[in-house]
Amino acid sequence: MSKVTVVGAGNVGATCANVLAVNEVANEIVLIDIKEGLAEGKAMDIMQTAQLMGFDSVVKGVTNDYSQTAGSDVVVITSGLPRKPGMTREELIGVNAGIVKSVAQNILKYSPEAILVIVSNPMDPMAYLSLKTLGLPRNRVIGMGGALDSSRFKYFLSQAIGCNANEVEGLVIGGHGDTTMIPLTRLATYKGIPVSQFLSAEKLDEVAKSTMVGGATLTGLLGTSAWMAPGAATSYLVESIIKDQKKMIVCAAYLEGEYGMKDITIGVPVIIGKEGIERIVELDLNADEKAKLAASEEAVRKTNSILYASGIL
Ligand code: 2OP
Repeated sequence: MSKVTVVGAGNVGATCANVLAVNEVANEIVLIDIKEGLAEGKAMDIMQTAQLMGFDSVVKGVTNDYSQTAGSDVVVITSGLPRKPGMTREELIGVNAGIVKSVAQNILKYSPEAILVIVSNPMDPMAYLSLKTLGLPRNRVIGMGGALDSSRFKYFLSQAIGCNANEVEGLVIGGHGDTTMIPLTRLATYKGIPVSQFLSAEKLDEVAKSTMVGGATLTGLLGTSAWMAPGAATSYLVESIIKDQKKMIVCAAYLEGEYGMKDITIGVPVIIGKEGIERIVELDLNADEKAKLAASEEAVRKTNSILYASGIL
């Protein structure tokens, strides 16, 4: 029996619970929110699709009762405010840090062995805050951003090439921010063939830029941040943990010397299995990619420093 809790029944949390259920990633999925009745309503709505979609997972909604989350194998934290058009993810730190910290503490009380997947923005600092607050080993705190950014990268690559997105491979490392993420165009492939054989340098540059502002573009169109791809990317990551799939997924991981960085949580390729982050994959980056990663590191550290300055850490 496997149990997953999703904290926050907003758009991202509810979509994640829906994809987890439809794909039967876990037997039991608890959706919890502070807003009276919201999680119950979303859970009931999802469960009314069970017969139509043919799934057996059970989704249960609860208001603020963390005892119902007890014994979860994986807990996804989506709590906090989403960004509005024109906002950066980093601007959410003041509101979301306190929320994420208290949610993480409540979760650990009832699921002391759980692996945490952090989705709330700004994602890299929120993963850092959760890990530092709870004092967990680094394999158990995973920031979800790279799975989403890499999926967007593959989408834009497939659009530019005119091919099926499932036949494209690509990684986006660094921070989960409009200016901090790094789409690795040099290493991206279509059917194992470098994408540079299909797209000009200018076109690849355009793809990289569209990927970086992928979330902001949707925020502009939707009036709030996206939820379909964020929810699905989170479910994809949770599935690799629950089913011990050992997939290589870009996640925000706490680094202890890898890529020349320490005491920071930032997006790098990792192997995700039942222990959470089971291995960090060190890519052989070129000088340009290293320089971009160094700039991304600096930006993420700057946001982390707000956590210390505000006294939340
Ligand atoms: C996004 O990029 C919500 O940060 C998330 O859409």
